[in-house]
Amino acid sequence: MKILLTGGTGYIGSHTAIELIKLGYEVEIFDNLFNSKITVLDKIKEITGVKPKFYKVDMLDKLALEDIFKNGHYDLVIHFAGLKVVGESIEEPLKYYKNNIDGTINILECMKKYGVHKIIFSSSAAVYGGQDGAAEMREEMRTGFGISSPYGRTKFMIEEILKDVATADKELEVVILRYFNPVGAHGSGLIGEDPTDMPNNLMLIVMKVAAGEIEKLKVYGDDYDTVDGTGMRDFIHVVDLAKGHVAAISHMQKGVSIYNLGTGKSTSVLEMIRAFEEASGEKLPYEIVGRRAGDLPEVYANPEKARAELGWRTELEVEDAMKDTINYLKHKR
Ligand code: UD1
Repeated sequence: MKILLTGGTGYIGSHTAIELIKLGYEVEIFDNLFNSKITVLDKIKEITGVKPKFYKVDMLDKLALEDIFKNGHYDLVIHFAGLKVVGESIEEPLKYYKNNIDGTINILECMKKYGVHKIIFSSSAAVYGGQDGAAEMREEMRTGFGISSPYGRTKFMIEEILKDVATADKELEVVILRYFNPVGAHGSGLIGEDPTDMPNNLMLIVMKVAAGEIEKLKVYGDDYDTVDGTGMRDFIHVVDLAKGHVAAISHMQKGVSIYNLGTGKSTSVLEMIRAFEEASGEKLPYEIVGRRAGDLPEVYANPEKARAELGWRTELEVEDAMKDTINYLKHKR
């Protein structure tokens, strides 16, 4: 099976490429390298022995995209490419709508023109928005309400586009994977999250504090109704997440299937800090500040559907993610 990964040099794409290559899938990648580095390809080769064919292409460049599809004869597209900095999306919504939505439409048009009938899409738990205080997210819950950023809304809108396209094209097989909070790095220490944009996800800030680039972590609120008052999330190891894509491939069917990819457990910000300190043996400086606008107290996946239908379950814990992140930081130095 020949698979095209859009955004395949990025954090989740590169970890997925490794799992796919290990199982013998033929993988090709395109990426505009806006938020990832071409050296990732050599790291993939070091880990798997295979350097995937790569195209430096932006998904808004329809003609270049057509060239890839014309010659590629792909069986499946895994669509990771997209802008994802929540704060930036609030300041520059049109950039996000144009890139994420137009880019996806270009990909879907190329798939139609060149006879590719399968797509797996990287969606986000952000599509659930607020659920009247519920913390556990199930796939059948309503989506699209109370989403706190244009970034999250692009994920919701693309899900809706995929549903419409699958209604019109009965041949199409669509899997939507709703990621919870990906953390960790590859066990080899060679790849991990290495963005050039400026996201403010918890784990990236923790990494920057550990590397001395930021003085201390700001903990956004300790007065939530949670175990210790700080926010709680479902942190999933990126290698488990990557394996979720592999599991989805062999269970694709006509129409749209939606799965949460999360652990089913939530961990608080203070618990994450403690886990990092235990894994590194060093103190992580932090201070409690006010709540961040748009944050929910607690969010975690109900992962039962993916367990039952895909036979996939997470195998790694937050402790593994911390160990692997620290190992990755050491390799980077
Ligand atoms: C954020 C985005 C969400 C996106 C997701 C995955 C917002 C409001 N939501 O979700 O749309 O899909 O990332 O990329 O930005 N925290 C701190 N200090 C920090 C950073 C985070 O205390 O410097 C806390 C947050 O308040 C939260 C937890 O850590 O309780 C996780 O935050 P974060 O990593 O930003 O993820 P989400 O809030 O789940």
